[in-house]
Amino acid sequence: MYTFGLIGYPIKHSLSPWIHTTFLEQKNLKGTYELFEVSPQESIEQKLQTLKDKGVQGCNVTVPYKETVLPYLDVVDESAVEIGAINTIVFKNGKTYGYNTDGKGYVRSLETSFPGVFTPSLRILLIGAGGAARGIYRALLDKGCKEVSIANRTLSTAESIREINQTETKSMIMSLEEAEEQLASYDVVIQTTSVGMKPHEEQSILSLNNIRQGTIVSDIVYQPIETSFLREAAARQCQVHYGHTMLLYQAQYAFELWTGTKPEIGTMDEQLQHILEGK
Ligand code: ATR
Repeated sequence: MYTFGLIGYPIKHSLSPWIHTTFLEQKNLKGTYELFEVSPQESIEQKLQTLKDKGVQGCNVTVPYKETVLPYLDVVDESAVEIGAINTIVFKNGKTYGYNTDGKGYVRSLETSFPGVFTPSLRILLIGAGGAARGIYRALLDKGCKEVSIANRTLSTAESIREINQTETKSMIMSLEEAEEQLASYDVVIQTTSVGMKPHEEQSILSLNNIRQGTIVSDIVYQPIETSFLREAAARQCQVHYGHTMLLYQAQYAFELWTGTKPEIGTMDEQLQHILEGK
């Protein structure tokens, strides 16, 4: 009998219980996925101890604890240390192990939608330089991408992401205005900021005026599924990649860490789309 769950605040509307319960059923495993809400008045360290004592095997971590949980873990995966954030914890033999599956999940979702996308000459532009961008940047480096440039409103934050790069991968840092001008140079454009998220659906981080037809345009925002950014991309004959798929694949990695088995995503993509459209 497995017990998994989610640490965060507020988390009442999380989609993770649906995703992990579906995985458990698919794998014929008995278990539950609970919401372990930790209010700002509570101690995250104490919560981890309580979960350990309860015999929980694994949990996800979301806002606002992704960074603050780090010092309380026994072992932290090297890429999660570099990203500076955790989204998955494994409880095993009395110890806590921290991982970050967001970036890896993103890369897997992109590769599933566009098999063979990671060619040696691929030129990628990342828009935004927050926690999500950090995870995706690291995962793209691990994938061996040769060019991953970063555009951000604040250039110094983009510079600090580039410090993760110990490889030969080329990374240019640019403003959002420069990115708008240079869009035609990129094969994949990944929007990682919260701009365009409900209730500000009408907003878009930049104009796609100069983008080439056929460019893969991705947005990690999934509420709404079709953001203004992706709508403009589709209108300009680009290939679009939706944010909710990242949610499924980061969960798939977490489930693998907890149970040692890899669930299939299959039709969960369409099912999740329906759930989100009904929200
Ligand atoms: P997360 O950790 O979820 O990725 P975050 O750390 O809040 O979120 O990161 C937010 C990202 O969105 C940053 O790149 C931020 O730009 P700055 O570094 O300049 O703050 C970007 N962002 C948020 N709101 C924005 C806006 N209105 N215009 C431009 N960029 C914005």
